Amino acid sequence: MTNQWQLTDDQLKLQSKARALAEEVVAPRAAEVDRSEQYPWDNVEALQQNGFTGMTVPKDLGGPGHSLLEAVLVVEQMAKVCGVTGRIAVEANMGAISAVLSYGSDEQRKMAAEFVLGGDKPAICITEPDAGSAASLMTTRADRRGDSYIINGMKHWITGGSVSKLHLIFARVFDEQGEELGIGGFLAIRDVTPGLSYGLREPTLGLRGIPEMEVLFDDMEVGPEMVVLPPSGLRRGFADLMNAYNSQRVGAGTVALGIASGAYERAVAFAKEREQFGRPIAEFQGLQWMLADMSVQLEAARSLTYRAACSRGAGPDGPGTSPFPDANLAAQAKIFTAEASIKVVSDALQVFGAAGYSRRNELERMYRDVRMFTIGGGTAQILRTVVASRILEQKLPQSRDGYLR
Ligand code: FAD
Ligand code: COA
Repeated sequence: MTNQWQLTDDQLKLQSKARALAEEVVAPRAAEVDRSEQYPWDNVEALQQNGFTGMTVPKDLGGPGHSLLEAVLVVEQMAKVCGVTGRIAVEANMGAISAVLSYGSDEQRKMAAEFVLGGDKPAICITEPDAGSAASLMTTRADRRGDSYIINGMKHWITGGSVSKLHLIFARVFDEQGEELGIGGFLAIRDVTPGLSYGLREPTLGLRGIPEMEVLFDDMEVGPEMVVLPPSGLRRGFADLMNAYNSQRVGAGTVALGIASGAYERAVAFAKEREQFGRPIAEFQGLQWMLADMSVQLEAARSLTYRAACSRGAGPDGPGTSPFPDANLAAQAKIFTAEASIKVVSDALQVFGAAGYSRRNELERMYRDVRMFTIGGGTAQILRTVVASRILEQKLPQSRDGYLR
């Protein structure tokens, strides 16, 4: 692949270190992780030992202070051989950790940094059975009692719930008089925070090695030290937390990109090797054009994803001052990359013929794994509403009465 992003020597070294780990350690176990549906703790340990968790933790908190693009380079390499491990690398470097590192108190930042540098992959808990795309309709509530909050409700489809230690939970906040103040973020720790438990595990089409869980809050009491309050306060809490979530959207797109790149490389190799009509199938123009189209889609997806990773949205001090990627670029990148990756993996499977349809072949797993990326992390339809509102410079409320909250 050309160095179209003019990655620095250090970034290229990081990329090859990630590629070596992916090929030597992660790839040989990918099929087994899928078949057994067991969480790959050994891969988590390998990521941690190689410095691939907590990559964006700044140096003053003991981290390596990598950029989001550098984390993306690592996620892409993992996902090329194992989508599950790619997703673990996302959770360990983006999403919840980005929000806490930017909005958390000094103590929270220190705690979260220690978790991820030690190999934790914090879970981000937003979605509820009746509040998926309409996330701001969530009903999980945090009632203030003295200095603490009592949280009740449930989330579902929480990636890594039950295997993650740190959880960032979005909930509606009410004061002691029962007045609603806005949506806030709360930290809870597995096996430590009383009232935090897990329900059913969702049986999934793909990405089977990572649990998608119901997470339950039953009078879960958290002290003030566990409230992640964005600087603009609770009234803007939801908007600020969603802003932090843009890094996770870049990460999700990267996993799709990685899976599709892996499928494409396998298809190119197979097309050169497999013979029909007495010649390698790569000599047929029908397949050459498919492979060419796949490469175009991947280059475009990679460009959008890397660009989004390098971007900064508008912050309190004006455009480009947010610590998070630009919402529009992140949404554009995820829409395009997810849809292109699904098509690329499907075409790669086609190149393999019947062999691609067999469960003995990795393409079958990749085809199932890549399908999720137009859904999780904001569906392709919802992300189009994000893009449309940005390009039209207007709010585009989706509820009949205008606004959900
Ligand atoms: P719905 O919102 O019910 O949507 C159903 C359909 O309607 C979709 O096609 C959607 O695009 C469409 N639709 C809805 N509203 C509109 C609209 N206004 N305009 C046009 N179309 C619309 N959530 C978390 O909080 N944490 C996680 O870690 C997490 N991990 C996930 C992992 C996986 C593998 C999956 C599949 C999901 C995960 N989710 C997670 C949940 C995910 O974010 C939601 O599935 C997603 O936001 C969509 O919600 P929904 O599934 O309820 O679909
Ligand atoms: N980045 C930055 N700001 C964002 C944002 C993002 N990704 N998404 C929403 N916001 C801001 C909006 O700009 C708006 O701020 P404003 O009041 O200054 O205009 C505020 O948050 C509320 O957004 P709005 O679109 O008006 O909210 P809504 O109540 O109609 O809800 C969403 C729509 C945000 C829930 C919907 O667009 C969405 O993203 N759904 C998917 C949820 C998701 O990704 N879940 C993944 C869980 S893993």
